[in-house]
Amino acid sequence: MATALIILAAGKGTRMDSDLPKVLHSIAHAPMLVHALKAGAWLEPERSVVVTGFGGDQVAAAARQYDPDIRIAHQSEQLGTAHAVAQARAQLDGFDGDVIVLYGDTPFIRPETLKAMTEARVTHDVVVLGFEAADPGKYGRLITSGKDLLKIVEFKEATAEERAVTFCNSGVIAADATVLFDLIDAVGNDNAAGEYYLTDIIAIAQSKGLSATAVRCDEAETLGINSRAQLAEAEAAFQNRARADLLTSGVTLQAAHTVHLAHDTVIGRDAEIEPNVVFGPEVTVESGAKIRAFSHLEGCHVSRGAVVGPYARLRPGAEISEDARVGNFVEIKNAQIAEGAKINHLSYVGDADIGARANLGAGTITCNYDGVFKHRTTVGAGAFIGSNTMLVAPITVGEQALTASGSVITRDVPAGDLALARGAQENKKGLGKRLMDKLRSRKAAKRQSND
Ligand code: UD1
Ligand code: CA
Repeated sequence: MATALIILAAGKGTRMDSDLPKVLHSIAHAPMLVHALKAGAWLEPERSVVVTGFGGDQVAAAARQYDPDIRIAHQSEQLGTAHAVAQARAQLDGFDGDVIVLYGDTPFIRPETLKAMTEARVTHDVVVLGFEAADPGKYGRLITSGKDLLKIVEFKEATAEERAVTFCNSGVIAADATVLFDLIDAVGNDNAAGEYYLTDIIAIAQSKGLSATAVRCDEAETLGINSRAQLAEAEAAFQNRARADLLTSGVTLQAAHTVHLAHDTVIGRDAEIEPNVVFGPEVTVESGAKIRAFSHLEGCHVSRGAVVGPYARLRPGAEISEDARVGNFVEIKNAQIAEGAKINHLSYVGDADIGARANLGAGTITCNYDGVFKHRTTVGAGAFIGSNTMLVAPITVGEQALTASGSVITRDVPAGDLALARGAQENKKGLGKRLMDKLRSRKAAKRQSND
């Protein structure tokens, strides 16, 4: 059965107290809207329509960045959830199949849950996702009879008896597109909020002889985000789940609760992650790699057998090949570090290609930026870069070449050569001791005159 998604994302999110539209606030480095889209992607939707309102252009741009084919419907006035869904109608013109309504501020619906909803559609015309609420608060209440869902009553309209019901509406709904829009056409706004309630379609469906049912999910899945506190809770929930997933898939996390993951972090089996490691977006770590404590990684790839950290920083474009070593206080950006290369201490390597088994001594710096342009550094296989070498790019150091410690390398070094580029040393006979003696006697004289 063909599926289309409608994602409601028009709300301002007043309680976020933010200039940024609510659905663009991030969880694990992705806007919550993207989490909702990713959840829906499991259904392989034929079309997806995001209904925008507050900050519409920004929300549309974020949606299109995730998927250029996403369609946008703008709801200029927020007149209620049924009105919001109705805005998507033109974008679904000619679509034949089921529509599932999701919410940009409800990012954690699991694929299994969406699957259960599509299965329930086989027997019922309209399927609603419900949950048993620990504190039902102001959620809409699901009024059921056996498997049948009779109606949804909004809190504001509910009787005391209905308010006592703890089976609540998540808002997620599935129905055939034509049926859904027909039902929505019949929704009015004569209620306590003066809004077009999407939830009214259940009673309308029943009155038309159509059937409805509710599928249950965990309350955690339907967690809606309305405030920064809830955003922080959602982040924590995401992190806990992502860590648990890694542990299940054979990754060692020595202090799991201290490791911060991104929505797209990929870590292979038998990789080992020490405490306090932060993963920004777009990081892949292969099986058997080791990321040591307090390292920060984003937009990079670490291969099998490589060891990174402690206290390493891998920035976008860092490619660490097999068995390479990136040690403490080393920053790598947009650079390929070939297999077995070592950059163990206090270095900056940016816009560079470091050859296999090359060794960069402590304090090696690629001077990649002239203030206007960025330039590349190439270090050949097996080269040895002496400690505190400045490699002024564009520059190439050939295979098996050496640079002397403290050199400022401004000309290419041919393969196998030794480059020495520093002030020549002069030794003054006995001057060291004479100088120290003089200084010490000066200090002693000063002390005496102060007494
Ligand atoms: C809605 C449900 C309620 C359910 C609850 C779950 C209705 C009438 N009520 O109530 O049964 O328990 O969600 O959280 O549907 N939106 C738009 N345009 C609008 C109105 C809303 O895009 O005109 C979006 C909002 O941005 C939000 C979502 O729809 O993401 C829900 O709207 P909201 O006003 O928060 O509905 P609730 O009162 O929470
Ligand atoms: Ca809400």
